Amino acid sequence: MCGIIGILGDHQAAPIMVDALKRLEYRGYDSAGIATVHDGALDRRRAVGKLVNLADLLVTDPLPGFAGIGHTRWATHGGPSVANAHPHRAGRVAVVHNGIIENFRELRAELSGDGESETDTEVVARLCEAFLDAGMTPKDAAFATVDKLEGAYALCFLFDGEPDLLVAARAGSPLAIGHGAGEMFVGSDAIALGPLTDRLTYLEEGDRAVVTRSGAEIFDGEGHAVQREMTRIRIDAARIEKAGHRHFMAKEIHEQPQTLSDVLAAYVEGERIAPPSAYDFTATDRIQMVACGTAQIACSVAKYWFEALARLPVEVDIASEYRYREGPVGAQTTALFVSQSGETADTLAALRYAKGQARAILSVVNVETSSIARESDIALPIHAGVEVGVASTKAFVNQLAVLLALAISAGVQRGTIDAAREAELVAGLKRLPGLMAQALAVEDRCEALAARLAEATDILFLGRGPMYPMAHEGALKLKEISYIHAEAYASGELKHGPIALVDRTLPVVVFAPMDPLFDKTVSNMQEVMAREGKVLLVTDAEGAEVASDGVWEVLVMPKVEPVFAPILYAVPAQLLAYHTAVHKGTDVDQPRNLAKSVTVE
Ligand code: AGP
Repeated sequence: MCGIIGILGDHQAAPIMVDALKRLEYRGYDSAGIATVHDGALDRRRAVGKLVNLADLLVTDPLPGFAGIGHTRWATHGGPSVANAHPHRAGRVAVVHNGIIENFRELRAELSGDGESETDTEVVARLCEAFLDAGMTPKDAAFATVDKLEGAYALCFLFDGEPDLLVAARAGSPLAIGHGAGEMFVGSDAIALGPLTDRLTYLEEGDRAVVTRSGAEIFDGEGHAVQREMTRIRIDAARIEKAGHRHFMAKEIHEQPQTLSDVLAAYVEGERIAPPSAYDFTATDRIQMVACGTAQIACSVAKYWFEALARLPVEVDIASEYRYREGPVGAQTTALFVSQSGETADTLAALRYAKGQARAILSVVNVETSSIARESDIALPIHAGVEVGVASTKAFVNQLAVLLALAISAGVQRGTIDAAREAELVAGLKRLPGLMAQALAVEDRCEALAARLAEATDILFLGRGPMYPMAHEGALKLKEISYIHAEAYASGELKHGPIALVDRTLPVVVFAPMDPLFDKTVSNMQEVMAREGKVLLVTDAEGAEVASDGVWEVLVMPKVEPVFAPILYAVPAQLLAYHTAVHKGTDVDQPRNLAKSVTVE
């Protein structure tokens, strides 16, 4: 997953592209590069590592030109290096690419000579150059090249001697055209293009576009000219600042009381749940919930809610497995996809598999203009605002809030929740932003504990019921940003094997709010302490009162009704990971090997 930008402007393109790539760096930061056409000549600059390295290079070796393309990379084929950095060039053409060309080896074998990189993308430039050699126009050469590609791609071509031409193409990976006043843009998403224009046209699957300063001609995969809807967007650049925090992740953790009340305001009316788009849960016999990473964990928590509150069976799947297991979907099944970015390729592919089979395609997304939102029958926004930190925090909490609101709504529709209980649950939801603010008060304790957690090489997380997936979230957050190996288990499962890992060096984080499963969890905790495991108990005052004897450390959370506990216990999962990572000095917002939006399978 990489970020792409293209500009046909009336200013120097390099600084504008570097700025846009800065906003796209959440997509990958292994290397970056730009190319421009100046006085008719095509040229490029590339640097390995973070975008700042390219920016520094452009100070000593500037690249003029009003027309250009740019790229920030997450390495798939070939490690981070200047040779593997985009734009890739072959003679008169330069190309930037997001995705994977699956038949690049076959295409490479058809070409004479050798390339200079290990990438799949370079073959695209070389193939296009071959078509130019064969006398084709730049547009025809680009289209002929795209005709031969298999896999996922968002591509933008720039040609020598063509200061007023970009050719773009999309299959799988997202790509949009930005319409300016006498300027035109191409970009991976609204975040890149938002500060440049508020008028975007999203390319559909298989589209190609010929872009000049006077506009864009769009063609479908068969070469027919097509019109695509233009969307007005509003990206508030200010919301992409750290607002005084050291990291975006810290800012986004502290935004949660506000973002949580924002989403509740959109799903609650008075004492009732009122989702922005109605869906009839009485006519469905089960829900298949499909997602990746933290979003999949949100689905795992929601399973407990839908089955308890609405007596509606839920299957939770990892998208990449769901897609290729090709299991039965069922005409009465509701397929629900959860994704912060709305562009995760595994989840999008899973959605396309269920489409036409399921009763309806629902999605819970943060980016309302994303592919997953646009390809769903009903897209439910989570209103978390732009999330920059690669480790998802506020989006996770708002995914949970929307899924809980849906479960309550389903329960009311299916008659398993009466009006009085609905009003009670709504009152509890309305108290959550305040409780979230209180929960943030555990930060100092988390910071103090982080120094000791940072010494560990392995950490276990335990939980029962909905706290089991929350244990997974705690482990995932820690792994993502501190690089400490962490695993999560259902507390009751420990004695069936993993307890062999326990000794006096192993911290074991136990999520145990005072709920009907508390005593069971405490018994499992005792089993760990009997083997000298270092238990970090995360509970409320009552739980601490009852069970903190002999534990290594206790984190005391505000008291909350058990049904809401997963939303609140996201905070210690996030803060323990954040401060442990800060203590270890890792790159919290842009952890190694990761990216915010995974647009390749
Ligand atoms: C979470 O912190 C990670 N960034 C990752 O697991 C993420 O949840 C996953 O890639 C899914 O992303 P999505 O919600 O944008 O689809």
